[in-house]
Amino acid sequence: MRRDLVSRILPIARFAREEMKKPIVITGFMGCGKSRVARALARQLDVPLVDLDDVITAQQGRTPAQLITEAGEPAFRAIETNTLRELLKTMQTGVIALGGGAWIEETNRELIEQYGCSSIWLDVPFEVCWGRIRISDEDRPLGRTREQALALYNRRKPIYQLAAIHIQRSADEGLEDLISRMTKKLATDFHGYP
Ligand code: S3P
Repeated sequence: MRRDLVSRILPIARFAREEMKKPIVITGFMGCGKSRVARALARQLDVPLVDLDDVITAQQGRTPAQLITEAGEPAFRAIETNTLRELLKTMQTGVIALGGGAWIEETNRELIEQYGCSSIWLDVPFEVCWGRIRISDEDRPLGRTREQALALYNRRKPIYQLAAIHIQRSADEGLEDLISRMTKKLATDFHGYP
């Protein structure tokens, strides 16, 4: 087998074996591609995928956007934290795509740490995120204008930085290469794993 192929596959195999113990959470700004990347990572590691916003929608009968608009952001954040807490109580392993604001709440970061999860910040330039937000059908009440989204992005950046693993994504990197980089990092950098 080619040497470069071996070096790509080995970390995945190692990580997916017995080291894959606790859930991995993916965080990052709205429009950074958390759900898509989480799905690809879960498939690669052959573990369950959970999208926190989807769980909230299924349980509450309203989307996060509807909850923020109708009940207010503090009410939504309380629901988000409760949903995450209940999820972590039962989830043995897997990949969780967080909503863009979930990691920002200190209580949520503490929960993630308490349950020994690994955290990955998917770091994507603002203009790329905004480009996707702008054309998306999905309502994002906290990022309806460029100014509002940019201010939020800048305010949140230092908090995203607290994630255990930092993955910068350039516009020209394919999903497969990105996942390969992630699994390598998980296997080598995340000290919570043997
Ligand atoms: C939010 C991001 C949204 C959703 C909610 C709040 C945020 O998820 O949870 O509208 O505070 O950044 P995405 O990051 O998937 O858009």
